Amino acid sequence: MSIDTIQVRVTAIAEVAPAIREFTLAPVGGELLPFSPGSHVVVEMPAEPRPHRNAYSLLSDPRESGSYRIAVRRQETSRGGSIYMHESVAVGDELSITPPANLFSPAWSARKHLLVAGGVGITPFMSYLPELERRGANFELHYLYRSSSTGAYREQLEQTLGERCFLYDSEAGNRCELGTLLADQPRGTHVYICGPETLIAGVHEVAQSLGWPESHIHYEAFAAPQPGNPFEVELARSGVTLNVDADSSLLEVLEGAQVQVPNLCRGGVCGQCQTRVLSGDVEHRDEFLSAAEREQGESIMPCVSRAAGKRLVIDL
Ligand code: FES
Repeated sequence: MSIDTIQVRVTAIAEVAPAIREFTLAPVGGELLPFSPGSHVVVEMPAEPRPHRNAYSLLSDPRESGSYRIAVRRQETSRGGSIYMHESVAVGDELSITPPANLFSPAWSARKHLLVAGGVGITPFMSYLPELERRGANFELHYLYRSSSTGAYREQLEQTLGERCFLYDSEAGNRCELGTLLADQPRGTHVYICGPETLIAGVHEVAQSLGWPESHIHYEAFAAPQPGNPFEVELARSGVTLNVDADSSLLEVLEGAQVQVPNLCRGGVCGQCQTRVLSGDVEHRDEFLSAAEREQGESIMPCVSRAAGKRLVIDL
């Protein structure tokens, strides 16, 4: 990864749900950087033929940054990052991570915080909860999961949060009535959603239909880049042409060629990797560019988006 990465050692691995493993990461020399609730790091996995780089939320109490904890859900249909973490990473291994970044911070001015988590989407809220408690904030956690795969930390959450914790095990037939939940909140409540896209879209839609201000709706989803058609990319400044194969993202190919592109989320939401397009059409897959910007076709988010045709020329 880039020069400002941090070396960490895996000091513990625990199965916290049938499909989810928790990894404790300690610094290799020196100290880890402090972080704020909702922060994430990008973990580089030295896989072949190319490294995987995935973003994971930090689970720990932000006041305890002696080590970091992350949780990884095994995704059988992914391009391999989560399977690498589950099958190839052992206690004692070293990994490179980026310094923590935060794209999902609580809005501290909120009168009430409504946290809605789906499956492994509980992870950013694990770092919210200690800070919400310390501040005496008004909050509730609504946690939707399947007990046979993704219901991590639920006993711990029930014990520490008591009546502020609402659990919905879909296999036990427990459903969260989003319309009722969102309609019953006091003015000034902010809702935070992390989980599958369907959950984020569902909560967002209901909140909008009930007239919630957009500024009170927060969500985080790290969309992993999806495969697509191969294409060529010409870097206008150097004249170098690179091939982007079907399984690699444009960002990964650029990094493989030692071309540094700023990035925070690697999932099309933060805007850091925005790159100027000089020629060629773009298949936009990000959540960052507006409809008008997509129409103009002057930018690409290389972490997730690809060429719509056979060739792109970009301003790098
Ligand atoms: S790295 Fe965040 S949008 Fe590309």
